[in-house]
Amino acid sequence: MKILLLGSGGREHALALKLKASATPVELISAPGSDALGELGTCVALDLEAPAAVGAWCAANRPELVVVGPEVPLVAGVADAVRALGIPVFGHGAATARLEGSKAVAKAFMERHGIPCAASRTVADQAEGEALIRSWSYGYPIVLKADGLAAGKGVVLAETEAEALETFRAFMAGQFGEASRTVVFEEPLVGMELSLHVLVDVDARHAAFALLPACQDHKRIFEGDRGPNTGGMGAFGPLPFLRPGDIERMRAELVEPTVRGLREDGLSARGVLFLGVMWTATGPKLLEYNVRFGDPETQVLMQLLDEDLVALLLEVAEGRLGPRELKLKPHTAITVVLAAEDYPEGAKKGVPIQIGTPGVTVIHAGTRKQDGRWLTNGGRVLNLATSAPDLSAARAAIEAALAQVQWSGMQVRHDIGLKALRHAEAGKTVQDPW
Ligand code: AMP
Ligand code: GLY
Repeated sequence: MKILLLGSGGREHALALKLKASATPVELISAPGSDALGELGTCVALDLEAPAAVGAWCAANRPELVVVGPEVPLVAGVADAVRALGIPVFGHGAATARLEGSKAVAKAFMERHGIPCAASRTVADQAEGEALIRSWSYGYPIVLKADGLAAGKGVVLAETEAEALETFRAFMAGQFGEASRTVVFEEPLVGMELSLHVLVDVDARHAAFALLPACQDHKRIFEGDRGPNTGGMGAFGPLPFLRPGDIERMRAELVEPTVRGLREDGLSARGVLFLGVMWTATGPKLLEYNVRFGDPETQVLMQLLDEDLVALLLEVAEGRLGPRELKLKPHTAITVVLAAEDYPEGAKKGVPIQIGTPGVTVIHAGTRKQDGRWLTNGGRVLNLATSAPDLSAARAAIEAALAQVQWSGMQVRHDIGLKALRHAEAGKTVQDPW
């Protein structure tokens, strides 16, 4: 089967490895791809923000399935352009992708459909925003969100009125271009954050979804959740202390109203929704929608999923997903991100990487190959991923594998999943203080 995979990072490499492991032989074409993705097939240079260019390539080359990794092409309308050719696409159309592309649209959707979330105000006027900050009554930090896509940098938790004013003024002055000239202010939520992925297949005739196991990302660069935010330094799943009733609660309070809401709003969905959830003292609240797989959550989910990925993604892409449970390994999976020196402020590129025989899945996120040697080529460079019967064993397997991979300046967290493990060992639940 000829598959076009859009993207170039660790998420896409993890998807590609799983696609290639399917029963159906896969001819993989990645765009723009990477040297590592090139080793699994071929790469083609396509502008992922240009629906017409991707559509023209698809019209000429007729892939049998297109899988869209990142959010930018979805928001730009790439999935619509390809679907219009009659080619199955795993990825939402632009209208549904607005749930990630505009925080204001997402909040209005949540409120309209009764989905529990932080109280909020959307502001596009300088004086109104400054007055709101001065009379802020929800407590600190004030959460300010640039409305549009800002490469993960558009959310600021302002600890003081002065910081909120400064952030707001920078946003309104165009720190992220048009994306930050509308600002969503939110009440601060306290609790445990988790990532819930749902495959969704919704149109005017039917609506089906399938839950993937809940995972947890670790966003800060340093152990103990210290230091600046990153794209994610490691993840694991499922959460050991999450009870079946907790999953049911997220299904009933967050997922089902979302699927119902899509139908009521006349939106179709053919892909994955990744719900960013904060489990507060009063239960789960929705922080955000992403219309794509998480990175590095995907690296965990692909370890757990005991399904033929080509068949599963086609089921969604062709609108044939039934209401069903996914087959999963009875394991806990973990991925650690190996990051470049200077990340997240920058990324030292071109440093030679030593990869021994780690005995786990090696995923390439930001590498390139020169004269047969792998070099660093991005902030998040490699991911190691594996699964084991429980979180403790999975952590131990990753630690052993880490001894096999090294380069000068490599950054890695050794505490992925550790806080959750201690939480579980203390007999605590998702509802207990985190
Ligand atoms: P978002 O892109 O909306 O998920 O925001 C990025 C990160 O900011 C989230 O992963 C949370 O850690 C944090 N965050 C977002 N909204 C809130 C909120 N209302 N209260 C507390 N933290 C938040
Ligand atoms: N791991 C967080 C994200 O993909 O947005």
